[in-house]
Amino acid sequence: MAKQRDHWTSSLGFILAGTGAAVGLGNLWKFPYITWQNGGGSFVLIYLVSILLVGIPVMIAEITLGRSAQLSTVSALEHHARDMRGTRFWSLLGWGGVATGAVVLGYYSIIAGWSISSFVQCIGWSLNGYTPPAEHEFAHFTANGWLQIGLALLFASVTAAIVMRGVSAGIEKASRLLMPILFVTLLLLSFNALTLSGAREAVAFLFTINSIEWHGVLEALGHAFFTLSLGMGAMITYGSYMKKDEPIIKSTLVIAGLDTLIALIACLIMYSILFTYPEVHEAMTSPVGMLFITIPKLFYTQMTGGIILAPVFFILVGFAALTSTISMLEVVVALMVDKLGVKRKLATIASAASIFMLTIACALSHGASAWFTQFNPLRGATQGFWGELNRVIFHNKQGVFNIVDHIASNWCLPIGGALITCFVGWCLDERLLKEQLKIEKPFYFKCLKIVLRYLAPILILIVIYGVNT
Ligand code: TRP
Repeated sequence: MAKQRDHWTSSLGFILAGTGAAVGLGNLWKFPYITWQNGGGSFVLIYLVSILLVGIPVMIAEITLGRSAQLSTVSALEHHARDMRGTRFWSLLGWGGVATGAVVLGYYSIIAGWSISSFVQCIGWSLNGYTPPAEHEFAHFTANGWLQIGLALLFASVTAAIVMRGVSAGIEKASRLLMPILFVTLLLLSFNALTLSGAREAVAFLFTINSIEWHGVLEALGHAFFTLSLGMGAMITYGSYMKKDEPIIKSTLVIAGLDTLIALIACLIMYSILFTYPEVHEAMTSPVGMLFITIPKLFYTQMTGGIILAPVFFILVGFAALTSTISMLEVVVALMVDKLGVKRKLATIASAASIFMLTIACALSHGASAWFTQFNPLRGATQGFWGELNRVIFHNKQGVFNIVDHIASNWCLPIGGALITCFVGWCLDERLLKEQLKIEKPFYFKCLKIVLRYLAPILILIVIYGVNT
């Protein structure tokens, strides 16, 4: 049999590693930017409801699967489905999930790379004084293909180097150190941001209910999956390194709570800056670079000690991204190790190198190559059947980066998550579930079962159906 499985040293260790996987660019970069695009309040509300009614149950389901099997995604699903009909289907679901994770990692590394360049830029500003970026400076930066590839390569290499060393000691140790520092720095920043004159408008923007399109609803749900790292087996894999006696539900609530809190704080900070300095135009018109444009402004113009904190902050953004990329790569590597019996080192190199091919395509799709930047699988059709299909499936997005992000986070993760909850709600042995979750009161267990069996999958289906009509 295989060697003894590595475990987190304690439930705090798991919580921090899980939070490390959950908190990342999704919170600091993506959430503020898609909330901005979708007009604020209602989007936030739907996002919160998605976390509560769908995200948390799916996360409980995933961790339970992994912990009880002590195996990573595909093997865990196969293990639990071994005596059932449709074993193949569940195994395929696992493979699909791992593939989705690989795709997410492929484009995530690009944005992660931006944290390195922002760090370098901040060092320059700290030494020579802050000069507000010229108009379109960020666009020029993203259009520099070689630079984008280089930064992403640097990031992917660090990820691979850590994953290669093994799981618990590396990942857990890093998360234990980094997560608390990130949290405190964000709190500090938010106190400063709240003293800005635009803070009131920022709060209003975040919490005033307004109108929203169906696509926004799908995006909010998709993001709930993305930000909690659900729907592709990351939490199954992380759960499989959890010891039997650690609480699943409590850990899930803490991870989801911290993740949501950090996302909201990030919005508050960024929007306070945007409303205070409307001249930060580029961030408003092309919110993709919001994090990298707005935050330095706050540091250098408002904060005492900003010249030190600014570079530190972008190191932390990099680390937050790193604990997330580690979790994604770990899913692929754990599959190769657990299922295919490949040595960890080889598995890491092989998977990281193959995923990097996609990263290159994504790196060229922010302006470096017209073909990659304008890529649309349906050639941008707007009329007739193909036009309709393009609208429904791709939301008329363009560019390899945007297309793979859209498909992975808004389609694959929710569908994967729905199937995983169905599996746990309908197929998993009830006694096993009860024993894993340690729910004493029959009423609570019943509620959870209803959520897993009906509520979460049906909500996901409704949203997906709504987008099509
Ligand atoms: N949750 C991370 C973030 O918010 C990203 C992430 C890590 C992820 N692992 C994942 C997303 C698995 C989807 C699937 O940045």
